[in-house]
Amino acid sequence: MTLDEAKSPPVQSSNNMIELLREAAEDGPLTALRIGDRPCVLVTGPEQTQQVLARRPDVYVKRGHRARRLLGDGLISATGEPWKSQRRLLQAQFTVAGTKRWGQHIAAAAERIAHRWETAVTAATPVDVGQDMRFFALDTIWRSLTGAALDEVTQRELDAVDTVVASLPTTAGGASDPSLAVDAALRQIDITAHRVIASARAHRARETSDRSPTLLGLLLDASEGDPHYTDRLIRDELVTLLVAGHETTAQTLCWLFVLLDRHPDVHEQFLTAYAAAPDTARRDALLGALVQETLRLYPAVWLIPRHAAEDDVLDGHPVAAGTSVLVCPYLTHRIPALWPDPERFDPSRFLPGGERPTHPAAFQPFGIGARACLGQHFALRETVTLLRLLLPAYRPSLTPAPRTAVFGANLRPQGSLRATLTRVSL
Ligand code: HEM
Repeated sequence: MTLDEAKSPPVQSSNNMIELLREAAEDGPLTALRIGDRPCVLVTGPEQTQQVLARRPDVYVKRGHRARRLLGDGLISATGEPWKSQRRLLQAQFTVAGTKRWGQHIAAAAERIAHRWETAVTAATPVDVGQDMRFFALDTIWRSLTGAALDEVTQRELDAVDTVVASLPTTAGGASDPSLAVDAALRQIDITAHRVIASARAHRARETSDRSPTLLGLLLDASEGDPHYTDRLIRDELVTLLVAGHETTAQTLCWLFVLLDRHPDVHEQFLTAYAAAPDTARRDALLGALVQETLRLYPAVWLIPRHAAEDDVLDGHPVAAGTSVLVCPYLTHRIPALWPDPERFDPSRFLPGGERPTHPAAFQPFGIGARACLGQHFALRETVTLLRLLLPAYRPSLTPAPRTAVFGANLRPQGSLRATLTRVSL
């Protein structure tokens, strides 16, 4: 199909949206369509994805981020020079080396969940995998931000984040839920954030020496020399890191348990290979491959929207200024020419010698280019740290096994993930 013959079926929900996009993608790596009255281009080919996300970020920009109400001017929604300086400040904390300084927080949060699962298996009571993964991901980022473990009161207050996230439209320009509950949730988030900022500032005034590093401390340091870092911006960065840093990781871990539950043969192969692995490096490679294959099949950020700021020609097709450009990792990761037998759950694709495409945009669960995920090394470190404790020790069996995916602000399995645990003996 050409970009001039746009498809325009009705779109009522985000699950209808993926069906529309799936059908459109059959026409090739670049397809024109209409969503409501908006002209859109769906991009699934790796070459075209690289063009949009990495080579032409000045043309294909973020605009009117759908979560701006929640995230304000934090890193995800910031643009231009403010974005550059905000990214520069945080980047060093999230490189492979930089994330090492958060290792002890991640380990402590993982121990907490392992303890919960040990208690559950001993008492033969079920666990709620969804709740535990969410708590873990929130606890790791909260500890890295503040230096303290997540307490129950704050956890309950931060449920407000989920209320707001659930109200967000799937793409920029869609309508947000205007309900009073969302307004109240936003007020609650502001109260919690400003309380934490005030307490961190008071703590810093008391403890001038021997401060252990925290992300919030880094932002407060910045505010001392740079007037750009107002309390409002510190609130926005804090909320951005909390939101970006927990739901995505939690859903990835949830999908990993769903996939292992659906594919007992792969689970068994994994446990056998893990038990036979000669050292930690090989064991971590096996865990890493499981996480990567999960991210291939269920990339939590399944749609990456951009806005064409000017007229352009993309892969030989004119794209008019104002067009919404939708990059869809979920569909790219299922192109059979790139990923043979794409629906098959096969973590060995990501092991040394595994068959996978070499194009840098063929696998992009964290995006690519300058706006790629800040927290990707953090996410991989935390998932592997937790799985090192859980997978060799417990086998969760989901009751009932979830079947459906919900394509909302993030891609998540539908319903709760209650599981009974049995012990694994390696
Ligand atoms: C498995 C977990 C994660 C996935 C799949 C994921 C995915 C993504 C993707 C696809 C983007 C790019 C969006 C775009 O180009 O519009 C992104 C951006 C971002 N992510 Fe992640 N993310 C994950 C975990 C994290 C974590 C743990 C953090 C923080 C600790 C984080 C912080 C961010 C931030 C701040 C951005 C915006 C970067 C910018 O615009 O400069 N993410 N993420």
